[in-house]
Amino acid sequence: MPRLLDVCGVADLPDEGSAVVTDPVAGRIVIFRVAEEYFGLQDRCSHQEARLSDGFLDGCAVECPLHASLFDLRTGLPEMLPATEPVRTYPVHVAGDRIVVDAGAPSPDTAHVGAAQNGAGPRAFSPT
Ligand code: FES
Repeated sequence: MPRLLDVCGVADLPDEGSAVVTDPVAGRIVIFRVAEEYFGLQDRCSHQEARLSDGFLDGCAVECPLHASLFDLRTGLPEMLPATEPVRTYPVHVAGDRIVVDAGAPSPDTAHVGAAQNGAGPRAFSPT
């Protein structure tokens, strides 16, 4: 069941910026902006729980600030050790001039990650 959380205004999140919201069930969710796309991820590294909101954007990935694992913003999958497990992703939408994240969206099936990367199962939303 959708559980929409207001993140901030579109104008308040600069390119390569991030914002964090907290959901009582999902916990901290970090929203990254890359150009005109927005990505929501759990704000907890799957390796040793560092906050990815303290990490560094590298294209469409975020580098964990603690041990430098790199996570794909679109899928949450680690691209570099030591992390081996994905981080949860959340759909992000733009509603008018607001950025909204769905903390209640079903967990993405990583078996279909290839489809998501090809646009069949989008995890991010570009404003139009
Ligand atoms: S806590 Fe993120 S890579 Fe170790």
